Amino acid sequence: MKTAISVFLLGISTAMAAPSSYPDWAYAVPTPQNEATAPKDDGTKFTLPGAAGPFTRGQTAGAGYTPPADWYPGDHPSMPNTVAAGNTARGITACAGCHYPNGKGRPQNANIAGLNADYLARQLREFKSGARHSAEPRKKNAQQMVDIAKAMTDGEITEAASYYASLPPTVPIKVVQAVMVPQMRSQEGMWLPHESGAREPIGMRIIETPANVDREQLRDPHAGFITYVPRGALAKGERLTEKLRCAGCHGEGLKGADAPGIAGRSPSYLGRQLYDFQQGMRHGEMAAAMQPIVAKLSAADIINLTAYAASLPVK
Ligand code: HEC
Ligand code: HEC
Repeated sequence: MKTAISVFLLGISTAMAAPSSYPDWAYAVPTPQNEATAPKDDGTKFTLPGAAGPFTRGQTAGAGYTPPADWYPGDHPSMPNTVAAGNTARGITACAGCHYPNGKGRPQNANIAGLNADYLARQLREFKSGARHSAEPRKKNAQQMVDIAKAMTDGEITEAASYYASLPPTVPIKVVQAVMVPQMRSQEGMWLPHESGAREPIGMRIIETPANVDREQLRDPHAGFITYVPRGALAKGERLTEKLRCAGCHGEGLKGADAPGIAGRSPSYLGRQLYDFQQGMRHGEMAAAMQPIVAKLSAADIINLTAYAASLPVK
């Protein structure tokens, strides 16, 4: 019965466009019209320059609850078990499968390398307590994140948070101001150029896509992203960042202080968070600090602010 109801609800919700209160670009929920399917594992083994391997697609993804492939074991300290392998019996998927061993992550999850350990642990506790979840109920991986946090012990939370906090932050994204962008399809929340090669006006959006689709499909933790932002967004974002004093809490150059670093991080991720604060979906211990800020922001402000933050160096 339960299954029949949820299938029914899913049928309705996928037929609807995302509510106008938050935009498609930041949540990238695939619709029947724009869905791209991930390449299947046909047993082929792949290599990357200077990396361990070869690995199959299934191995890179950690299919069947196996530990996901570690392409560059020399890149990072030894991973705690929760990060490297998860815990199948308790429904904990390895963090490395989504956030990668080096914390780079993907736009549809989060780049968490080098963020403050207390901040990371607090977020995990808030996913667990229900104080943080996505405004978009169809965003499956955000619900998976909540379910994983619910299954974690306090010890595992502290350990995984300290591991990711100990890693150097990375800047895997290049911000480009553009008028026209490739038409996109969403593969489980990641925008990939449509195979037709068609282009369209960027409009009021940010479009983030792998710099090299083949490498990203292999979950290469060294592969970067390109971020297309509307012309003029960077200058407007810089002015607004000063006016609203974001650096007063997020630190000089937005590199992190009492509030988490947001420099050089995925603008899709950052934009989603600003909408989630606006919609009251993040209401943990420290979220109140963001409430008066997001209350004033328009859709254009969110584009400009996140484009500018993404363009800043992390070091
Ligand atoms: C299935 C993919 C997936 C796995 C596995 C996963 N996460 Fe996440 N994680 C996400 C997504 C998606 C988000 C962002 C949610 C959103 O955008 O609302 C996220 C967000 C986070 C955040 C918040 C970051 C911030 O800046 O506030 C932390 C911390 C985090 N994850 C830690 C972990 C840890 C530790 C593990 C392993 C125990 C883990 N995640 C496993 C998908 C995943
Ligand atoms: C008064 C202090 C304060 C100011 C000013 C402030 N922030 Fe924040 N911000 C915070 C705190 C604290 C958090 C963490 C909230 C939590 O733990 O849930 C945060 C979180 C965020 C996040 C989510 C980060 C993540 O990893 O999930 C984004 C994005 C963000 N702020 C953007 C901004 C921008 C852009 C501005 C300026 C327009 C700004 N903030 C101004 C205190 C502030």
